[in-house]
Amino acid sequence: MSILFISKADSPTEWQQALASLDPEIGFQVWPDSRKPEDIEAALVWKHPPGALLGLPNLKLIQSLGAGVDHIFMDPRLPKNVPIARLVDSELTRQMVEYVVLAVLSRHRRLDLIRGAQLLRDWQVIPPVPISCSRVGILGFGEIGRATGNSLVNLGFKVASWTRTPHTVGAVTSYHGPEGFTSLLEKSDILICLLPLTAKTRGLLNAEAFATLPTDAYVINVARGAHLIEQDLLAAIDNGHLSGAWLDVFDAEPLPSNHPFWAHPKIVVTPHLAGLTVASSAASQVVHNLQLVRIGKPPQNLVDPTVGY
Ligand code: GLV
Repeated sequence: MSILFISKADSPTEWQQALASLDPEIGFQVWPDSRKPEDIEAALVWKHPPGALLGLPNLKLIQSLGAGVDHIFMDPRLPKNVPIARLVDSELTRQMVEYVVLAVLSRHRRLDLIRGAQLLRDWQVIPPVPISCSRVGILGFGEIGRATGNSLVNLGFKVASWTRTPHTVGAVTSYHGPEGFTSLLEKSDILICLLPLTAKTRGLLNAEAFATLPTDAYVINVARGAHLIEQDLLAAIDNGHLSGAWLDVFDAEPLPSNHPFWAHPKIVVTPHLAGLTVASSAASQVVHNLQLVRIGKPPQNLVDPTVGY
């Protein structure tokens, strides 16, 4: 029995080796060269072509190769009643935390101004602002949001979080629902988007949301480009309300070379690299999920299709 691998972004060789080192019995077929559809028990996917998961009579698991699963729901011909699992991996989480902490500290210590002065050979001392002047709001408080929140709290930041449903978390102030969204925005000098992309979160970071943020606020998006209305962000930065943004994800990826974000002095652009799945770390979860579905149990990190994550 085998796993079907479908991804242009991940290495099939690394995944095949990582899976074989855990269970040499697991066969590995790479789309579109898969030859034995009846052998396929699990599909390991990142942005698979629509319809590619049909015609697999023994498919028991659709496992995302990333933390997000929005790419799976883009397929209008997804097989019905096959459990879908998110990937929750400590290495991926660690990378995301590193990246967000980098962005938050860069903003907090005004690395943009320091670099600007350096380019002018200007010995300009930009004094650190008190950490209380950088209140951080995190949208989405799943595995990655919580780990990020904890790291920022440990650094001394005042952190608040927002989720769809109520949640309680130690040192982090929690908000939920539409009213909570406004309350969180009003108090976020640095806003971090770590939400799953669903029908409810698409376009949430729009002109109204930006206007609700305090003057000079800074936006970090490491979730999906579609959470944010790019024109609204540009307008809010260019009219001086927001001080800038740090973006890893975009509506169109790769970001077109003529896109205004590339050369914007107040926007940091990185090419969707905040967290990249590492096969050697994540493979054990895939093998474990395969074992679970084989005995009729739900996989770990099961997605609820009615909410989309
Ligand atoms: C990356 O964007 C992921 O979903 O893991």
